[in-house]
Amino acid sequence: MPPSNIVLVGFMGSGKSSIGRLLARRLDFDFVDTDRLIIERAGTEISEIFARHGEDHFRDLESAAIESLRGAEGKIIATGGGAVLREKNRASLRELGLVVGLTASEDVIFERVSRNSKRPLLQTENPRATVHALLAAREPLYREAAQLTIDTTRLSHDDVADRILAEARDRFSWNGAA
Ligand code: S3P
Repeated sequence: MPPSNIVLVGFMGSGKSSIGRLLARRLDFDFVDTDRLIIERAGTEISEIFARHGEDHFRDLESAAIESLRGAEGKIIATGGGAVLREKNRASLRELGLVVGLTASEDVIFERVSRNSKRPLLQTENPRATVHALLAAREPLYREAAQLTIDTTRLSHDDVADRILAEARDRFSWNGAA
């Protein structure tokens, strides 16, 4: 049976939420963003969760949000950039469906994340160096988690969505059916 959801993983600024929404519209699927699930359940912003309770607590909430999706069907699921850090999350995401990794060049990532100052992990003295270090540390995890990886650097959102759907159909016989 083909997987019934598409899961998007990738670094902050790789386009998971924008592409996810577009895919959901195209396929007439629901769009779910694990960061939004965490915010709704906690009743507060992610920056506040980090500030008050620390990253480990945020990661626990993130794992719980991923677990809560078990059995979901017909969804496009965008994850936070650190969702791949825990092995258990990587296994759960794979069980949910086809895991697609989105990448972009470091310059483009930095340019995109600089437009928004809400990300707690990038509130450092040298955000550029932080992006570089986090990307280097996480790259192998994104690669391990994803069955299909798309470089979004030079593509429009529509092009990325086209490519995901074409490759999903060709390589994984994915037709969106549960
Ligand atoms: C994080 C990425 C964020 C959010 C949190 C931590 C990370 O999501 O989950 O700030 O560890 O990379 P986005 O990738 O949607 O920005």
